[in-house]
Amino acid sequence: MVLNTVRDADLTNKRVLIRVDFNVPLKDGVVKDATRIIAALPTINYILDRPGTSLVVMSHFGRPKGQKNPEFSMIPVGKKFQELLKRPVKVASDVIGPDVKNEVMSLKAGEVLLLENCRFYPQEEANDSDFAKELASYGDVYVNDAFGTAHRAHASTEGVAHFLPAYAGFLIEKEVKFMAPLLENPEKPFVAIIGGAKVSSKITVLESLAKTCNTIIIGGGMAYTFLKVLGHKIGKSLVEEDFFGTAESFLKTAKEKGVRVILPVDHVCASSFDESAKPVSVNSVDIPDDLMGMDIGPETAKLIAEVLTDAKSVVWNGPMGVFEFSQFAKGTEDVAKALASSKAVTVVGGGDSVAAVNKFGLADNISHVSTGGGASLEFLEGKVLPGIKALEKVR
Ligand code: 3PG
Repeated sequence: MVLNTVRDADLTNKRVLIRVDFNVPLKDGVVKDATRIIAALPTINYILDRPGTSLVVMSHFGRPKGQKNPEFSMIPVGKKFQELLKRPVKVASDVIGPDVKNEVMSLKAGEVLLLENCRFYPQEEANDSDFAKELASYGDVYVNDAFGTAHRAHASTEGVAHFLPAYAGFLIEKEVKFMAPLLENPEKPFVAIIGGAKVSSKITVLESLAKTCNTIIIGGGMAYTFLKVLGHKIGKSLVEEDFFGTAESFLKTAKEKGVRVILPVDHVCASSFDESAKPVSVNSVDIPDDLMGMDIGPETAKLIAEVLTDAKSVVWNGPMGVFEFSQFAKGTEDVAKALASSKAVTVVGGGDSVAAVNKFGLADNISHVSTGGGASLEFLEGKVLPGIKALEKVR
């Protein structure tokens, strides 16, 4: 996949329309994690450093369902953006309309205007072509750096690219640079660690990674369905009976391909799914009838660390247990630490595993922490992301 990047664009004296993903966690009107804003700054600063440029910035925030809901206003995000950018950022009163148009048209070189939440209009998610055209009229050039929203074919992420010369920003370029080789020609041994609650939401990524992986480690709630089909006792653990067939055929395919599949060999359990549940160590693969698996045990964590010792590429998506309850976070923490000390190229994607890496302060020791939740999962599933497809070089 070769992308047109912002480096290819002639930006001098241009008004640049950029789509970013500033869908950040907010509490009491304050941005709690500015990672996504910080991740877009290299592209934004690069554009503003070209002579005579001005910038119109678009993003969504939350899911306002096509309504102008002040709860989803970009104003608090704009405040944080201005602070981090270290230059004034004006937040427009709307997304389209004569007032915004005026504000856009009167932008001077070096000025930055952040549009209101583009999801205030249902036309955004409908990828309405007139709406996209209106947004496109705000710029001479379109740059997309919203990796986190690249799996959505929306007006601001895909539609606009039909009306303006379209380029990828540095964030999208970097995300693709780290993730595409995992599906094409990863440095081997390539190990994938896939966790999360449900087989149903991770089976496609497992199947996709089995094409290039040497080893797949399965943890989290979905591991119990796999253990059950292998004939183990899983007590009261989470299980998806409808996915027994899927899990079985995945294990069979992996075996045929020579992919080693590692499942938990011990567990931290509880008698109920409860924030205050007492952790009980179970030092065997089998779980007693009155307990449910809540986390991988120390032997499994050790095994994972061993497998990572000589890995050359590692991807991690999904927690190993109920890490939001501190007594069941150890397995996820151990995996995060094993990745952080690995010499391999390490890529972490997916909201929960990224949150875990951040929670344990290990992000700086990971080669690439993706800014995409759903987007990074779909990328690893081998799906075409419409926001990225629109930026591909036609050869
Ligand atoms: C995300 O947070 O994953 C992206 O911003 C996409 O948000 P969405 O799932 O509401 O489209």
